[in-house]
Amino acid sequence: MTHIALLPGDGIGPEIMAPAVQLLEHFVPGVSTEEHLFGGASIDAHGTALTDEVLAGCQQADAVLLAAVGGPKWDTTNPDDPRPEQGLLGLRKALGLFANLRPVRPLPALYDASPLKRERIEGTDLLVVRELTGGIYFGEKTRTDTDASDLCHYTTAEVDRIARVAFEAAKLRRNKVSSVDKANVMETSRQWRQVVHAVHAADFAGVELEDVLVDNAAMQLVSRPSDFDVIVTENLFGDILSDEAAMITGSIGMLPSASLGNPDGPGLFEPVHGSAPDIAGTGAANPLAMFLSLAMLLRHGLSLEAEAGALETAVDAALDGGLRTKDLGGSAGTAEATAAVLAHL
Ligand code: NAI
Ligand code: MG
Repeated sequence: MTHIALLPGDGIGPEIMAPAVQLLEHFVPGVSTEEHLFGGASIDAHGTALTDEVLAGCQQADAVLLAAVGGPKWDTTNPDDPRPEQGLLGLRKALGLFANLRPVRPLPALYDASPLKRERIEGTDLLVVRELTGGIYFGEKTRTDTDASDLCHYTTAEVDRIARVAFEAAKLRRNKVSSVDKANVMETSRQWRQVVHAVHAADFAGVELEDVLVDNAAMQLVSRPSDFDVIVTENLFGDILSDEAAMITGSIGMLPSASLGNPDGPGLFEPVHGSAPDIAGTGAANPLAMFLSLAMLLRHGLSLEAEAGALETAVDAALDGGLRTKDLGGSAGTAEATAAVLAHL
């Protein structure tokens, strides 16, 4: 039986988790779920953001659905106090989640929310696949009074596995991968390019592959975003490009994400936004990023492509039908947004 671990977390987290579970049960009849305390809620109960018990519960699940953690209650200046975000980092690390997936798909109904002109973003539907646990963020760091260094380090195995995630994702999409590097300057990039091409030749020859230098990619993301399908890149480049790409849609309440890793372990699916303490408890939270994260869980966590597509289509249809939550300039609350999506299933 399919089992999903649920981490509602803090703030608006529980408010957007409840309708997401309703949708999960619609798409996976008989699904088994277990809700766990996580983040600030876990600190209050157990003094730590992630208990061993909850971690074990996540490891045994087919996928983990997370809402958001954090809030002013747990903001502390004492470095010894536990922090909600420690749960997030601890969970990603323990689950070996080395691939961060951020789809960017501005919906026609929301084109005017983007800082880019409508004609530039029309038809954009891209996925950034960012390597999450290697590269310069994790390399050796040194510092003296007069100099400092960060080492960028990748093993070929680390590049190989992230390339496979990108190619597999492309096969479910428009069959194209843009590999972003700086191979004209960096040795890690030259090896990145070589490994990506080796993986391509060996197992994914049917997928179109292009190499794009990172500076050029930054430019093309805003000049011709609709030409991209899957973008795969290393940790630092991916951090920057995924934020740049996310802004094409213009609204944080709409952006889902997935973190994947061990093919035999669960992935983690969560909206990009935080716990929005300023609107928690008011019923105003936009649940759509959470719903789109659930669609990613269906697609990447359970291989239910048709169900994932149906949920995304229902979200599109609800917005086409005029649904606007407060963050999108309207007045609909969580319950109305949920009802609008359910009405299109
Ligand atoms: P935030 O994303 O929670 O909120 C930023 C702004 O966007 C707020 O005005 C909020 O009301 C609005 N917003 C966010 N999500 C929304 C939604 N679904 N519907 C309607 N409006 C929404 O970021 P902020 O304020 O910087 O952080 C608040 C707390 O969340 C902090 O404790 C932070 O550490 C935590 N956080 C947690 C994350 C996670 O769990 N992955 C990610 C980012 C922040
Ligand atoms: Mg970032």
